[in-house]
Amino acid sequence: MNPDIKRAETEAMQIVGLLTLEEKFQLLTSPGYRRLYSTKPIKRIGVPSFRMTDGPLGVAMHSSGLTKCTRFPASVSLAATWDRSLAEAMGSAIAEEVRAVGRHMVLAPGINICRTPLCGRTFEYLGEDPFLTKEVASAFVRGVQDRGIGACVKHFAANNQEIDRTSASSEIDERTLHETYLRAFESVVKEAQPWSVMAAYNKLNGVYCSENRHLIREILINKWGFNGFVMSDWFATRPIKTTAQCINAGLSLEMPVPSKYKHKLLDASIRAGEFTEETLDDLVYRLVRVMFLSGAFSNGPVTSPAASNTQGHRDLARRIAEEGTVLLKNEDKLLPLQMQDLKKITLVGPNLKKKYGRFLSGGSSAAVPPYEITPLLGLKEKLGGKVEITGNVERADVAIVFVGLDHKKGNDSETADRSILELPSSQVQLIRNTVELNPRTVVVVMAGSPIGMQEWIDGVHSVILPWYPGMEGGRAIANILFGDAEPSGRLPLTFPRRLSDSPAHSTGSPRTYPGDEQKRVFYDEGIFVGYRWFDQRRIEPLFPFGYGMSYTEFSFNEISSDRESLAGPIDKVTIAAEVENIGEVKGTQTIQVYAHAEEPSVERPPSELVGFAKVSLKPSERGKALVDVNAADLAYYNADKHDWQIDQGSYQLLVGTSSRMLPSKIDIQVR
Ligand code: BGC
Repeated sequence: MNPDIKRAETEAMQIVGLLTLEEKFQLLTSPGYRRLYSTKPIKRIGVPSFRMTDGPLGVAMHSSGLTKCTRFPASVSLAATWDRSLAEAMGSAIAEEVRAVGRHMVLAPGINICRTPLCGRTFEYLGEDPFLTKEVASAFVRGVQDRGIGACVKHFAANNQEIDRTSASSEIDERTLHETYLRAFESVVKEAQPWSVMAAYNKLNGVYCSENRHLIREILINKWGFNGFVMSDWFATRPIKTTAQCINAGLSLEMPVPSKYKHKLLDASIRAGEFTEETLDDLVYRLVRVMFLSGAFSNGPVTSPAASNTQGHRDLARRIAEEGTVLLKNEDKLLPLQMQDLKKITLVGPNLKKKYGRFLSGGSSAAVPPYEITPLLGLKEKLGGKVEITGNVERADVAIVFVGLDHKKGNDSETADRSILELPSSQVQLIRNTVELNPRTVVVVMAGSPIGMQEWIDGVHSVILPWYPGMEGGRAIANILFGDAEPSGRLPLTFPRRLSDSPAHSTGSPRTYPGDEQKRVFYDEGIFVGYRWFDQRRIEPLFPFGYGMSYTEFSFNEISSDRESLAGPIDKVTIAAEVENIGEVKGTQTIQVYAHAEEPSVERPPSELVGFAKVSLKPSERGKALVDVNAADLAYYNADKHDWQIDQGSYQLLVGTSSRMLPSKIDIQVR
């Protein structure tokens, strides 16, 4: 074991041994309303306050002593990079800023699976696929924790809508729960050992997550071996009935103020024998252990503003924005624009000058940067006065329309879901009017969740999706539009043509969304979420999972694997895909591998993502993408055995560039 961890564990044990019962109670919650992101110090024996800050888009202002920090692109944009090293770098950069504001833990990453495209927090999560989610999230957690700061993976679990989030119950069968909604949590816990997990607001199968013994104690702690601590989401414990239930479930920290963990209640409950001191000690130990790991005992709340918002962090934010941008459509290769061919350009739309990093705007992601480059600023900087910006659309060489959403309630934001899949009708009208006056129109969609585009997409030449690109977003967008950066993002979620095409909305019944009269939301579609649903039902999406164009073109020359069979759950096969850049500019391709079970013992999705790798090539250059596929990722969850199972037999590994573009295959036997 890592000696630092061992030392932290020994020291934490000693501290627990020194605490009185009352002090243990005090450690389970915050000092009250004035310190909403800290725990109470125990001065008698030198236990400091453990201090947290919100994420995941950066250090959020409301929880960091009002400090302005780097605002990174939205999590969904990070997922769209399909880039583990960028995720790790973003985690490290955020950790440095967390330390710089004197905190010990960031409340990130958010890894709930996108079940409905309307969910208000899709932008804070990593898409619809458990494999992609866990790959990005594990790298992020490693990046954070390698810097000695804690990561808190949230929201555990099945918090897939914002409507009624504090009262609704997600009703999910065992296989679906594990295979779809817990799978990424399980992998991140096992692969990256996050120091904390945040229990979600909602109920899972009738029991609130913060008091859900089955979820926390039995699955997370006992089955997966989680050794960090569990905290509640903010005020999530209010509707819960008993204190003992939370303690016995395994909830270490009730945030942000005591409700179930009031001294009087804890005292009465332990006296009544509803929980043991041994159970309490374990909860306290878990928290104190992380205090040691994060340096809370040694570092104290030292702030060092110079480590915040460094040039390096801004550059990283811009790179993620660029690499996460998805080129959705590009007729006649209108993009990238050539500066020398332009005399006049029209820039319009409600998102042209919009800033997203505002105080408390959107919820936990409200990182407020010291400045924010809007698309207009970024483009002015790029054009450098050489091209005239004109309001005369007809006369312009190209028109760029900036549309999308923002973090107002009812858009991409906490506490509410969107009400429609499409853009507001005024924006649709604006796109149509612009196209009518000038067919050379580019649409830039700034949003954090799938957008319906049926009404207008046929008329426009090019569409890019920079999501919410963070404080350097305007520069990233300008770089992409003019080809100084390539849009190498791939969709981490399916874009449906219409809402009723997506699983939670297919029946139109409140039973599946947003819930029946008793606020139960039945996940009737089971494991068929995201592309698994579209593939199984043969529904043509507007844009499939994994999709994204490039400014160049690629050919696949040869696909091979280093073996033909897999012998057990820890075995793996490596797929080598030879790719050639046959276009004129350099570019990056993301090779994706999906598994199809040929003789499944239970119904399986037609194909599931099991591996990916990126390869960057200059024109005419050939390169190999090496994709590891682990046998464990071929498993399904067997509800009778309450465990993962890998069927023996034949599998096809389908190789290509999106969930719907899989031209090559490799046969593999599992023995
Ligand atoms: C959110 C969490 C967040 C917490 C603290 C809650 O409303 O759901 O994601 O970390 O507030 O601000």
